[in-house]
Amino acid sequence: MTDISFDTEVTAKAAESGANASARFRERMETAGRAGVVDTARVDHLASKVIKAINDIVIEDQVSYAEYNALKAWLIKVGEDGEWPLFLDVWLEHSVEEVASAHREGSKGTIEGPYYLDGSPELGWNGTIPMRDDEPGTPLLFSGQVRAVDGTPLTGAKIELWHADDLGFYSQFAPGLPEWNLRGTWIANEDGRFEIHTLRPAPYQIPTDGACGQLIAAAGWHAWRPAHLHFKVSAPGYELITTQLYFPGDPHNDDDIASAVKPELMLDPRDNPAGEGVAVDYDFVLDPES
Ligand code: DHB
Ligand code: FE
Repeated sequence: MTDISFDTEVTAKAAESGANASARFRERMETAGRAGVVDTARVDHLASKVIKAINDIVIEDQVSYAEYNALKAWLIKVGEDGEWPLFLDVWLEHSVEEVASAHREGSKGTIEGPYYLDGSPELGWNGTIPMRDDEPGTPLLFSGQVRAVDGTPLTGAKIELWHADDLGFYSQFAPGLPEWNLRGTWIANEDGRFEIHTLRPAPYQIPTDGACGQLIAAAGWHAWRPAHLHFKVSAPGYELITTQLYFPGDPHNDDDIASAVKPELMLDPRDNPAGEGVAVDYDFVLDPES
């Protein structure tokens, strides 16, 4: 008999991540008091444009009732599966990020994705990320400096890191992981420097068992994102950057489903001379707030 318990567990976790991502997003918007604050003229302009673009596609591509009904059923399922955050962050956020960061001179950013949480444990300037005793993965020593575009080191800058475990799961979204597993906050020292002790992340597949997975399968696409580390880097008086960093040689660097890879975000890891695993340097450069 085939043992399917592992697959069942993985599938159950994937389904839950979507629902948690929706709930967390709603809470964050409510806390920030930012839900629904787009002005009427802008809503009129943008909603009219979106509706027209879709109608134009229907006419141009001669969309049938069978296709219209398949779309309707799928849109209902995206909501039921809690996968709107997933869908939007994978297929739309990259353009929004491009618009938002076009003016910046400092380090490049990229999408946040659905799995950020604020308030992760503070680990000094050189601490080790919270992880399980038997956490699988290669040790990664990530060092660098936070500075302003004019070169000033930013003492006290905050570096928040979150990443998936070896199976592609994020703590507090997939069940069964310690609360802050693979999430932490470092505070840059007097030279703006920090040293993060973590694990090298594995390539990641967006959940395939919900509506987004159904679309991917129906269109013959794949669900992979290259292995990545997520960061938010901030300091008072400077623009916060949300970014992700990637590893050379990953098979999905060139076809990330979320279109979030940029050449400037590629790390250059080397064998760690001082210990096990790999070491890498990367500096974050922040723009002053305007
Ligand atoms: C998704 C997950 C990620 O880890 C990420 O970085 C971007 C998007 C997602 O599942 O939508
Ligand atoms: Fe991610």
